[in-house]
Amino acid sequence: MYLTELSLCNFRNYERLHLEPDAGLNLITGENAQGKTNLLEAIYLLATGRALRAGKDDELIRWNAEEATVQAHIYREQSLDVRVQVILSRAQPRVVKVDGQTYRAATALGQFNVVVFSAIDLEVVRGQPADRRRYLDVEISMLSPAYARALMGYRRALEQRNRLLKGIREGGGTVTPSIIDLLEAWDEQLVRYGSGVIVARERFICALRPLACAAHAELSEGREQLDIRYAPAIEEAQGEREQVAERFRQQLRKMREEEIRRGTTLAGPQRDDLLLLVDGKEARTYASQGQQRTVMLSLKQAEFELTLQERQEPPVVLLDDVMSDLDDLRRSQLLRMTLRGAQAFITATSAEAFPRQILAVARTYRVQNGRLEVVQ
Ligand SMILES: Nc1ncnc2c1ncn2[C@@H]1O[C@H](COP(=O)(O)OP(=O)(O)OP(=O)(O)O)[C@@H](O)[C@H]1O
Ligand SMILES: [Mg+2]
Repeated sequence: MYLTELSLCNFRNYERLHLEPDAGLNLITGENAQGKTNLLEAIYLLATGRALRAGKDDELIRWNAEEATVQAHIYREQSLDVRVQVILSRAQPRVVKVDGQTYRAATALGQFNVVVFSAIDLEVVRGQPADRRRYLDVEISMLSPAYARALMGYRRALEQRNRLLKGIREGGGTVTPSIIDLLEAWDEQLVRYGSGVIVARERFICALRPLACAAHAELSEGREQLDIRYAPAIEEAQGEREQVAERFRQQLRKMREEEIRRGTTLAGPQRDDLLLLVDGKEARTYASQGQQRTVMLSLKQAEFELTLQERQEPPVVLLDDVMSDLDDLRRSQLLRMTLRGAQAFITATSAEAFPRQILAVARTYRVQNGRLEVVQ
């Protein structure tokens, strides 16, 4: 799968851009603050529904503009080509269109896959559990639209249930039978969507583990061992969906008094974590910067392989300004993905960061103040 066209209108510092990228390697060079990351962010947004950096859609719209559009045409070998469009507006919720038809944002995800590597990704290794949950959510959603829907359902149910618990606490903690009924109705919603989320996370991590470990063994030249484990907040949450649901139900029952006292939901996948261990120790706390980077690279490589397995096509690779920070082994490992038939967008302040054999096959662009031109 690869982008045959990309158009931006009032997205970040791009007033207008129309690009017909190479199906292989695209190098985006330019000084600082010219729009390199912004371009990758647009592609990432189309694939994941999320921005790389921004919290709100507002931040993605060009200053002084009311609306931004990002659009791409994606060639896919395994299914029909598709046109994906995201329209961001200051006044209204965003609109996502696939082949001109409007969808709820979560349903439109997964039209194509990206593997992105930028400095922010290191937060997955060294950041908080919330960073790792976000990572899981983005990755799994790209492979499974059903996951994105379950997640959305779960968030809605969680929000409502928290509102109810807060209301009970503010009302002095009195629990009438009708309140119990209401709470149990929300419990069931939580369990229904939440068990789907838990099972999908477990499966994803199981599939990713051997791939990431193999990549890590290669990168560390067999000196270190990576392990990846799911740390679900629901105890003993392994197994089939029904078993997981039952465990979740039990935990909610056990926690109910505490939840009413605290006025919030305490059990559930909103408290999950992903454990990344190097030689048995948590990378977040114990790994050096170099080791953390190796873990991240291994995850990226594993994502690439997993997408290839599940989609029978390589994902689009986005590398934001990471080449100069890597040694030769890691750099060539990263670039190898792109040499296996993937389309790649790689940014750097100068083309000097790239080996000559890469430059020979790549299309090079230069970006200046939101304008892109082909250099070669
Ligand atoms: N909503 C927006 N409207 C207009 N300009 C914006 C908006 N958001 C960000 N910018 C500007 O876009 C410019 C380019 O940002 P970008 O992050 O793409 O730079 P870059 O080329 O990746 O730089 P670096 O090499 O430092 O990473 C910045 O100067 C930023 O101020
Ligand atoms: Mg940048």
